[in-house]
Amino acid sequence: MPHDFIVTPGAALKGGVLRVPGDKSVSHRAAILGALNEGTVEVHGFLDGEDCLNTLRAIESLGIEVEREANVIRIHGRGLCGLRAPSGPIDCGNSGTGMRLLAGVLAAQPFASELVGDASLMQRPMRRIADPLNAIGAVVATSEDGKPPVRLAPPEKLQPIHYELPVASAQVKSALLLAGLCAGVPVEITEPDTSRDHTERMLSAGGVPVERDGRQLRMQPVPAFRLGRLDIPGDLSSAAFWLVLAAVQPGLELQLGNVGVNPTRDGVLRLLERMGARIRRENRREQGGEPVADIHCSASTLVAIDIDAADVALAIDEIPVILIAAACADGTTRLRGAAELRVKESDRLAAMAQGLRSLGIEVEEYDDGLDVTGGELQGGEVDSQGDHRIAMAFAIAASRARGPVRIRNIDNVATSYPAFREDLARLGADIQEVTE
Ligand code: S3P
Repeated sequence: MPHDFIVTPGAALKGGVLRVPGDKSVSHRAAILGALNEGTVEVHGFLDGEDCLNTLRAIESLGIEVEREANVIRIHGRGLCGLRAPSGPIDCGNSGTGMRLLAGVLAAQPFASELVGDASLMQRPMRRIADPLNAIGAVVATSEDGKPPVRLAPPEKLQPIHYELPVASAQVKSALLLAGLCAGVPVEITEPDTSRDHTERMLSAGGVPVERDGRQLRMQPVPAFRLGRLDIPGDLSSAAFWLVLAAVQPGLELQLGNVGVNPTRDGVLRLLERMGARIRRENRREQGGEPVADIHCSASTLVAIDIDAADVALAIDEIPVILIAAACADGTTRLRGAAELRVKESDRLAAMAQGLRSLGIEVEEYDDGLDVTGGELQGGEVDSQGDHRIAMAFAIAASRARGPVRIRNIDNVATSYPAFREDLARLGADIQEVTE
């Protein structure tokens, strides 16, 4: 039975310090690169969300031993050529990142494999990885319309990779880097806009020569990959919900400890600052090759902004909650160059347009974006479309609504932020989880 959130506004929210769960993107990479490591990797702060747990199960099904103990996991990597054939299809659950990154690794293996997922993932585009992988000699099949299952057969030999990405996608870029790493071939990729570089950073930490020159990226093959201990920073995409909550609630001040602020990923901070939110990054430091900071955020009067394709690439997962800030801002926020949002866990442009309209906000929908005019949020009912980020974005919106908001189909919040409801309740919000 699916669950809903019911958020009743009016409760006084209290500020304070929150710690968000581990970064989802970095956790996926820790699991996959941990499996390819020469020996054991100790990972601290791995995200205990369904998406990353599915990736851990995937590497276990490929013959990797994983030990879990409180907040630490030990992955007993078997080197670049040590994976074993799985005994059946590998289930990636709701996770496009898990499926696409694993496809890169599996494309270069001497055994066949098959990747499947839940109803949402089975509708997501996979030609974007199958086409470039097949072009270098891999044997990757999708359904006729380019969707999962992704079936991989052993290739004869993979060729060096030279690829110009048609869309800025860290998942596609990472799939190719991982295929190159496992096949021992050089990789050269050009991106239209900068996408998150967590894979490149972790590869460098493991001794792989990776160079960036503007929009071009080059990786040289290595005989072995060796990581030390990995400390995963807090997830900025999860922190974004609290940043927007603080930005739209006069008097509320929140501090988020130990959050990743990788510059290829921190667009949400800059977009909120452009809207007028007061954000401070303190105690900046490096952790496991990733920049981290403590972030403070408090409210001010927000104003509408224009958001373009380059902004979208740096804040791809935070756009839904930024649109909640837009609904609370003076004027019309214009989002363009955001067609990629239509092929995420849901069609996020449609889901946000519908949800905002049902709470009384004026929205114009375009193929690649939305115009959102700030106004007064009403109570009502919103369908999250089974998308974790849509569900959490509307729970934040509800804190500013004039009546209770029911958010349908919220179970997938567990994919990235299992304790979201508890954290919002801890701040004083009235949020109930009910069965539909
Ligand atoms: C991710 C990349 C992004 C993002 C996803 C995580 C990653 O997808 O939306 O949630 O970890 O590489 P694209 O690279 O396909 O834009």
